[in-house]
Amino acid sequence: MKKIGVLTSGGDAPGMNAAIRAVVRTGVSKGIQVVGVIEGFNGLTEGKFQDLGTRDVSNILQRGGTILKSARSKAFRTTEGRKQAFENVKKEGLEGLIVIGGNGSFAGASIFYNEYAVPYIGIPGTIDNDLFGTDFTLGFDTACNTVIEAVDRVKDTAASHNRLFFIEVMGRDSGYIALTTGIATGAEEILLPETATNVDDLIARLEKAQTNRKNSSIVIVAEGDDGGGAYAIAEKVKEKYIQYDTRVTILGHVQRGGRSSAIDRVLGCRSGHAAVEAILATKSDIMVGVLNNEIIETPVSDTISKTKPLPQHLFHIKEDLTI
Ligand code: F6P
Repeated sequence: MKKIGVLTSGGDAPGMNAAIRAVVRTGVSKGIQVVGVIEGFNGLTEGKFQDLGTRDVSNILQRGGTILKSARSKAFRTTEGRKQAFENVKKEGLEGLIVIGGNGSFAGASIFYNEYAVPYIGIPGTIDNDLFGTDFTLGFDTACNTVIEAVDRVKDTAASHNRLFFIEVMGRDSGYIALTTGIATGAEEILLPETATNVDDLIARLEKAQTNRKNSSIVIVAEGDDGGGAYAIAEKVKEKYIQYDTRVTILGHVQRGGRSSAIDRVLGCRSGHAAVEAILATKSDIMVGVLNNEIIETPVSDTISKTKPLPQHLFHIKEDLTI
């Protein structure tokens, strides 16, 4: 193998740049050329490529976002789009791809592999941390740190005014960010897509907190919670429990940006390195993840069909610590 492409796809995540740098430099160290595909799979369908050498990835290790840009490509979901992508892959002389992204990105790469036998290795990159086959995805740790910094600030004002705050964090289908940051900030309640939300139970628990001499409370709400998000839940709570002085904060895309944490930088370096080694060892259709701090390979068919469960022990810890 002499030439491979690297692309970032789906929602950007801090640590993606560290992984791109690792792919390029590992490639150079092992004597292969690395080409950046611009804007995810759109870059394949539209033939947008950029040669990447050692100095092209200087000084990006710490930066959030992705220098290659990212997209949720509609064209690549079509048969015609993938045919066009294969033509461009051939023309550019790419013999393999490193795909940094989440479930949707790997599903697309897998279909492309089955249709055109272009080998690829996936690197888990999404702040949601919702991929089976890895303890951590790139960006999750940084996003959690961003959230806890914001929640700590909200707690100052919540305590000063005896208020109840609903803080919405990202996670359309996954409560990983909400659960982790809820524990890390001592939130009174954590509402997740994975568990049913009952407003009466929520109010009962908040009342109990008040009788325990808590004057302010924080409820972390994952955006995909079945109660309809922070605003909707806050409204329902207010209807039934008017004595609460309630406020809502939506953290939104601030969670996706910013310089990456040490954990995400090291994870990006390790997974980029491992991905190039795997593709040079003629492996394909796998994701390189980290389990128990060891790099492991998981078939993408498992990654996209299996669900990573939330760490149940965190629920028990929360019950005991938020009294
Ligand atoms: O997949 C990462 C993620 O940040 C989710 O947590 C969120 O629901 C979604 O992307 C937002 O996507 P977009 O930036 O396309 O609105």
